[in-house]
Amino acid sequence: MRNPFVYGEEAADEAFCNRQSEITELIRDIDNGVNVIIFSPRRYGKTSLIKQVMKKLDNKRTVSVYVDLYPAVSKQKFLELYATAIAKALTGKVEAKLKTLKELFPRLIPKIVIKGEAGTPEFEFDYDRTKRASLYLNDLLAAVKKYADQHGMNAVVVLDEIQEILQYEDDEIEKAMRSAFQSHRNVSYVFLGSKRHLLEPMFTDPNRPFYKSGKHLPLKRIPQEELVPFILSKFRQGEIRISKKIAARIVEIAECHPYYVQLLCHVLWDDCIDKPEIDERDIANAVDGVLERERSLYLALWDGLTRKQKALLLALANASEPKQQKIFSQRFLMEHGLGAASSVQKALTVLIEKSLVERENGLIALSDVFFKRWLQKLI
Ligand SMILES: Nc1ncnc2c1ncn2[C@@H]1O[C@H](COP(=O)(O)OP(=O)(O)OP(=O)(O)O)[C@@H](O)[C@H]1O
Ligand SMILES: [Mg+2]
Repeated sequence: MRNPFVYGEEAADEAFCNRQSEITELIRDIDNGVNVIIFSPRRYGKTSLIKQVMKKLDNKRTVSVYVDLYPAVSKQKFLELYATAIAKALTGKVEAKLKTLKELFPRLIPKIVIKGEAGTPEFEFDYDRTKRASLYLNDLLAAVKKYADQHGMNAVVVLDEIQEILQYEDDEIEKAMRSAFQSHRNVSYVFLGSKRHLLEPMFTDPNRPFYKSGKHLPLKRIPQEELVPFILSKFRQGEIRISKKIAARIVEIAECHPYYVQLLCHVLWDDCIDKPEIDERDIANAVDGVLERERSLYLALWDGLTRKQKALLLALANASEPKQQKIFSQRFLMEHGLGAASSVQKALTVLIEKSLVERENGLIALSDVFFKRWLQKLI
């Protein structure tokens, strides 16, 4: 049997654990044309969740467009990615799709390209890249609504890694999206992102175009009660014996973080495939194995920090559930030799920008539970 624990790629179907209430809520919101903003720290499962939701939608009633903006380093790239994602969502024969695309984006020139071994035709788009993005933007942003109306359908457009558009030289795309989307009653726009410090102002600052323009759905870690049975059933399918207590220990070490739970289980599966039963020692070995494998990455991260940032990171790694207010208390600063609160604030900002540390519900946590263990062993 193949290792059932998936990490580093989206978790789908069998590899996907729970999130039932989020799935139900999102399906309802999409049906009602509500815009949703899903944010969480990295690797909590935003992309996996929305893709599970999209699979469950009735494709006769809902047009589903998924745009991964991670590579959208420029406005031109944004245009291309958006257009290609719409082309992917169309159904029917290639000639019919081509006709539809020409109607939807009269200023773009679609080309058919054959990709991959399966030789499935896909679309790419040519246009005059020396012209301003705005020339193409309006057709593009109106396209899904237009197509859904023509077919008497509703639609969902998922914009994953939305923080990328916040790095452009101006807010042209943000403004154009807002003014287009606000009249699209039958289209639900779902924004996904992880950099809270960049994203939050986009939706909560009254001076920004998207202020109060959607419902917020912060994604949390997966509760232990759901992870334990998930882990047990997977190991049992592979006839690897594991007790409930050991499964709970895995979840505890991985701190209910979906990615690290999967990572640790993946390693344990490979290590223990021929063993009678998984025990505490196997977990300790698996953790050591991960730390050893990641050592050079951790060293590089560590070396890239200033002395103050290192001191703060170590203090956070060794404190239990540090609350934001606590880390600025005199006692915490003194105990960890951190100096003035103002300089700690600066260090914290950098650690958050580097995604080494995350702020969630007033708590400050290290993003990588294994890096945290590595730091704990450092002293
Ligand atoms: N519901 C889930 N069940 C099981 N594993 C999950 C679940 N959600 C996430 N994971 C694990 O977390 C990993 C990251 O998931 P995913 O890529 O969906 O997260 P993300 O929040 O979109 O991350 P990023 O912020 O990096 O885009 C997956 O590879 C998988 O190992
Ligand atoms: Mg993602």
